[in-house]
Amino acid sequence: MDQDSQKRSVAEAALAIVEPRLERDTVLGIGTGSTANLFIDGLAELAHLFDGAVASSEASAERLRQHQIPVYDLNAVNRIELYIDGADECNEALQLIKGGGAALTREKIVAAVAQEFICIADESKWVPVLGDFPLPVEAIPMARSHVARELVKLGGDPVLREGVITDNGNCILDVHNFPIAEPLATEARINAIVGVVCNGLFAARPADQLLLGTAQGVQTFRRPASSLD
Ligand code: 5RP
Repeated sequence: MDQDSQKRSVAEAALAIVEPRLERDTVLGIGTGSTANLFIDGLAELAHLFDGAVASSEASAERLRQHQIPVYDLNAVNRIELYIDGADECNEALQLIKGGGAALTREKIVAAVAQEFICIADESKWVPVLGDFPLPVEAIPMARSHVARELVKLGGDPVLREGVITDNGNCILDVHNFPIAEPLATEARINAIVGVVCNGLFAARPADQLLLGTAQGVQTFRRPASSLD
């Protein structure tokens, strides 16, 4: 099964999990990227079964609206039942790197609010140690150089993502050559740099369930019991 087929199969698997849990007042959190897009397209057929969605990007909001799925401001919503999103990397603790689509901050906010986070990814995203994929860091534009110098001190090689402004009006530094042995500590350390809005490590709030598309089919992983809070 090629990568596109794997993305399609995990999107379908997520739809099968989500459908029986939909009720008239259910609000879903919806992520960003090509895998999330496949999920959104499938969700169109279920639009009559639930209330609406909170999107992690303007692009996903637009796609949801095109399918006549109501999109809510997060501040207008008390509860998000499920958050469904892709990832750039995932490890066995279901910790993730996200932000390849520059939507990391809103993704992290929606994930924080959601009762449950289902990650959908093809097998190219599965790694023993996070960090092959350059870690996205969203920074306030005036702090860009300061943040970059601090990231160098932590051992990484930050590169400005040229021509990209996030939905929040900020810039993205992609940190290369930065293997992440301690995701929780690294996430907190980067967030503590003045000028950083958010980084793409999802370690404090990992996925609860990972649907991984493989050549053999979809494999399901649940967050290890030891890390459940
Ligand atoms: C966007 C993300 C995406 O989830 C991530 O980039 C994966 O994208 P795709 O499904 O296209 O492989 O974090 O900010």
